This record gives sequence, structure tokens and C-alpha cells, in this order.
Amino acid sequence: MNMKAGAAPDLAWPSDVTDVPSEVFVRKDIFEEELERIFYGPYWHTVGHEAEIPNPGDFKTIDLGRVPLLVARGKDGVVRVFINACSHRQNQVETAPCGNRKGFECPYHRWTFKNDGSLAGCPGSEDFSPKFRKEDYGLKQVNMTNVFGLILVSLADNPPDIDTYLDRGKQNLEKQIGHKEGLQLLGYQKVRYGCNWKVIMDNDGYHAPLLHTGFRLLGWQSGGGEQFVRDYSAGVESQLVPGKSTGILKDSSLIEFKDSQWDAGSFVTGIFPATILVKHMDVISIRFPIVRSVDCTEIHYAYFAKGGDSEETIKHRVRQASNLLGPCGMISMEDAAIFRRIQLAAEARGTAIFQKGVKDLKSIPNQFLQNDESPNIPRWDHYRRLMGFSKKGEA
Ligand code: FES
Ligand SMILES: [Fe+2]
Repeated sequence: MNMKAGAAPDLAWPSDVTDVPSEVFVRKDIFEEELERIFYGPYWHTVGHEAEIPNPGDFKTIDLGRVPLLVARGKDGVVRVFINACSHRQNQVETAPCGNRKGFECPYHRWTFKNDGSLAGCPGSEDFSPKFRKEDYGLKQVNMTNVFGLILVSLADNPPDIDTYLDRGKQNLEKQIGHKEGLQLLGYQKVRYGCNWKVIMDNDGYHAPLLHTGFRLLGWQSGGGEQFVRDYSAGVESQLVPGKSTGILKDSSLIEFKDSQWDAGSFVTGIFPATILVKHMDVISIRFPIVRSVDCTEIHYAYFAKGGDSEETIKHRVRQASNLLGPCGMISMEDAAIFRRIQLAAEARGTAIFQKGVKDLKSIPNQFLQNDESPNIPRWDHYRRLMGFSKKGEA
């Protein structure tokens, strides 16, 4: 890809590590620069899990920033990711969100592609220019890697080593999605939040029992645990204290924890820049982010069961996934309103301040308790450096 980051947008960053200027959520020039530097830059972005396209011919489409991608499993069983643009005149080849096809046909001039991306046919080729060779005109493949079935891509020519990139996050991922019998897709909840992508990633461990009424009503306990932050991954690993029935639910089987054999813990892992994976009780979910604009972020919540689950367990996972932790889940539904309210108030260009767990205004913390908001500080500092924003008083 020929995408280039420009000069850093003009923004003086506050000198205390606790302070973040709200204008990073609303400035269009900053959003455009993020697309170039981060989303089209030398980082890894999740676009799917192999369990979403289990059979030869299965595919899904997804956008990385504004770049349309096509994730397809070939007849040979291999998963590949392509730029979703015809090699002829760059028309978008596939528009369905997912499906199964023998191949792909671009409707403009009917060029056809096999699901391994190679060009199968092109009408009228006897009259094509002398430079045309069919083997040169397959769909353009994107750099990809696969971690426990999670498909990550990079538009940059030389993306970093994935193990180094994920760092400690890889251990969490193994516990979340690395089950030996693999995963099976249960379904999706797809939602558009009226906010900048960083507002969602800035959600914290402090708010959960305070904002979410469901935490109290269900007798929900997050238990003890720890958070870690690396440059490109972050996470929370908690003991799991299953909710007690407080009489609020007529049927408290909704908050039962049935699969305690696999891993009793609760894990939330963030992968830079904007993916979140959650394994909590019997919910296994991956949130695929699509940054639509400076104030609109689409999240595809994909839910999974384990490969060998019984029908009864699958039913339980579907019920728990859709009722607890999704965009309208009982212990997370208020987040959407907060995201939007932060976005609206950010127009005043104030300063967001982190307090809980902060001991020092000048150094970046690296140890956190489960309900601290201080883990957001190293993440913001990493973002600030990557975007080239200098602190006030620095050169
Ligand atoms: S643009 Fe696809 S066939 Fe011409
Ligand atoms: Fe929340």
C-alpha cells in the first residue's frame, strides 16, 4: 500500500501523565492522521476468526479503516485476506457481509476470481493490451497471520513479529480462544457507537460497579485480579466470582457458570489499536472494530462456543452472551450512552483526567489493581508518542 503518515497534527499535550486533551476525540485532522499512521501503518489488525468461515468457499467482508477487505477460505482450506477491489478497474468485488461462494465475480466487466484470489476468467481478453498476463491479475493479497485462529492483517509491507507484538497478551489469548477443540461461531451483534474509537478503548476498570446497575442487581462480583499493559496489548485477568441470585432474575441459570473446567478465570484482552476479546463465565467473544469516522465506530461482537460443546451448552452460551456482555447486555448496556455523552462533551475540548490508582503525576505507572483507571495512562502515552504529539514544554 502506498499510504504515508504526514506531519503530526498540531496539538500540545498536557505535561501531567494523568491528562488527556478531549480534542483527540473530535478533531477530523487527527482522525485522518490515525488512519494513515495506525490503521494503515505497521501494526496488526484483527479481521476475523477462522471459525467464522469454517468451510471451503466461506467468506466475510470487513473494512479496515476505509479499506474494504475480503477474507476467504479457498477450496484448499486455506484462509487468505484480499483487498476487496477488482484487479481490473478497482471495483469492489464482494458486497455481502458473509456467505459461501465457488468464486467471486466482479459485476462491472464480469472478471471472475477463484476463492484463492487467482483470476479465473475475463471476457474479451483476446483484445487486451500487450502487458496483460492472466496470472498477474489475481486479487491483491494482504499480509496476514493467525493466532489461535484469530486472523490479523497489516497493510504495511513489513509488519512486526506477531509474538513480540502481542507480548503478554498472547498468554491471555490462549486462555480465551486457544481451546484444543477449536471454536464454533454462534452469531453476531453488530452495533454503531456514536463516538470516536478511542472513547471505547478508554473504558476502564473503575466504572464497572459504579455505572452498571446490573452489577448490583445481579450480585455481580468481579473478584480480585490484575491488569497488565504493554505497547500493543493490554488485559485484565480476574478470579471469577459467579453472581449470586439476588431474586432479581426469575431464572438465575442465566448467570450460572457451567464450563469451569476449561478455565475458571475471567479474561479481557485488548489488542492495539482497537480489538477487545472477552472470556467471562461462559461467554467467549471477540469484538472486531471498524472505525467509520471521527465520531462513529462500528463494533461487530462475534460470539463463540467451543468445538465440542453439547447443544445444551451452546444454548446456554448464546443466552449468556446476548444478555450479559454485549451492547445491550445487563452488565454493559450503559456503556453506549456514556460513550456518546463523552463524544458530545468532547466538543468543549476540555481535559480528561485519570485519578484512580494514580500515585505520581510525572511517571508512567506499570502496576495496577483491577479497578484502577491508571492502566489507561501508559496506553495514552504510547498513542501520544506514536502520533508525534509533544508534551507542553518539550521540543
Ligand atoms: S472492474 Fe472488475 S471486471 Fe472491470
Ligand atoms: Fe462498562
